[in-house]
Amino acid sequence: MAFRDEFPVLENIAYLNAGTDGPLPRRAVERAKAELDAELTEGRVMAHFMRRHELQEQLREGYARAMHCTPEEVAVTTGTSFGLGAVMAGLDLGPNDEILTTDSEHPGLLGPLIAARHRGATVRTVPIHQLAEAVTNKTTWSPPRTCPGSPARRSRPSSPRSTCRSSSTARRARAR
Ligand SMILES: Cc1ncc(COP(=O)(O)O)c(C=O)c1O
Repeated sequence: MAFRDEFPVLENIAYLNAGTDGPLPRRAVERAKAELDAELTEGRVMAHFMRRHELQEQLREGYARAMHCTPEEVAVTTGTSFGLGAVMAGLDLGPNDEILTTDSEHPGLLGPLIAARHRGATVRTVPIHQLAEAVTNKTTWSPPRTCPGSPARRSRPSSPRSTCRSSSTARRARAR
């Protein structure tokens, strides 16, 4: 079966959104339906609770394989916005930090950027195509880009953990 066949919607339309509402893979829908059917008839009691943990571990292991890291390094979040917000909240950003972002930032990160500004961090915005060049020795953090063709991602092609890498790359730049 071709990879494309996993996405039946592609038979009907050209699908250009790979973000929040990206195309659903057939296999994912079948698995989700099966889980919901089981919950419908068997309830959401202890076995369901254990199953949820088992599935979460499987998910973590799957991501770890795809990202060439260990399952312990994977945090499963409810979505990209929540994950980025949690990472930013944990970075302890303050008056000595400069966050570099772009004029095309996803709305999901605007709240965490405002919160960082309230904590005293400087948020600098540049046109997206100038992001890589705009990193200076003052830059302590730059949001990871999920778009594979974007400058930050292009400069670290083998970096699946782009959040950690982008912050550590910026810290290295600051140290120079
Ligand atoms: C950079 C970025 N942040 C946030 C989102 C939103 O994702 P989610 O709905 O998982 O929060 C996307 C979606 O494409 C994104 O590209």
